[in-house]
Amino acid sequence: MAPDALVRLENVSKVFPGGVVGLDAVDLDIAAGEFLTLLGPSGCGKTTSLRVIAGFESPTSGNVLLEGGDITGLRPFDRPVNTVFQDYALFPHMDVAANVGFGLSLRKLSGTEQAKRVGQALDMVGLADKLRARISELSGGQRQRVALARAIVCEPRVLLLDEPLSALDAHLREQMQVELKRLQSRLGTTFVMVTHDQTEALSISDRIVVMNKGRIEQIAPPATLYDRPATRFVASFIGTMNLLQSRFVGRDGERLRFTAGELPLVAIPETGEIPAVGDA
Ligand SMILES: Nc1ncnc2c1ncn2[C@@H]1O[C@H](COP(=O)(O)OP(=O)(O)O)[C@@H](O)[C@H]1O
Ligand SMILES: [Mg+2]
Repeated sequence: MAPDALVRLENVSKVFPGGVVGLDAVDLDIAAGEFLTLLGPSGCGKTTSLRVIAGFESPTSGNVLLEGGDITGLRPFDRPVNTVFQDYALFPHMDVAANVGFGLSLRKLSGTEQAKRVGQALDMVGLADKLRARISELSGGQRQRVALARAIVCEPRVLLLDEPLSALDAHLREQMQVELKRLQSRLGTTFVMVTHDQTEALSISDRIVVMNKGRIEQIAPPATLYDRPATRFVASFIGTMNLLQSRFVGRDGERLRFTAGELPLVAIPETGEIPAVGDA
């Protein structure tokens, strides 16, 4: 475990009633202050991972740690974690201030302190002038910002975001990607975001976790994932990659020689095992 890991999933599995495997022996360290993105196709376990971190789902086996302490049995409200849900889950009959202040109203804070914090959170997301607006009067992008403000107002250590931008049109989504990243640097809060959009993941993240069928395929910064995919799945999921079935035929010093059908190929490995002659 990295000594500075804020959150750690330790061998976490989740099997749902009926036997569907949501997570399969997941090990994951999340560093304090990083922007981590969970990326993968639908059904690969991204939302389940977030729900396990938030405490909405308890693992079938394995542990969830916060700064080295076991929080597996802790209720969601007792964790310093907040979630921006995919559908925002705002209260349509309440105004913006009441929505943002909802989490605070459950805590013992004076009215003045609550109002101050709500104001600051709305300021952060550029909605200071919408304090008294009703949710139904807001655009999709504005609703998204309200959901963000409501999640950051309680000053969580970890902010979980489940496909936070998927409901927005392409132009607004790009703008909000920049804003999310800026907000995260300004707050210094750890963000864990889920997306199935590789462009979004590559542009916004410090590190990306590529998931497939409940397992982690690779954890790496965007450039490493792009240049050095660890598995065939990652290579085919990230970027537009040409995969060649090839045969290892021998080496000349540093150079490894392969053939892909008629095509001779040469590779110079940076690290790693040299394969035996045969299929590569
Ligand atoms: N409450 C549940 N009951 C049964 N199966 C579930 C439940 N939640 C998720 N699953 C299954 O677990 C797998 C992972 O789901 P999920 O984490 O929601 O995927 P993702 O967010 O990556 O699309 C899927 O096969 C899904 O159908
Ligand atoms: Mg999901």
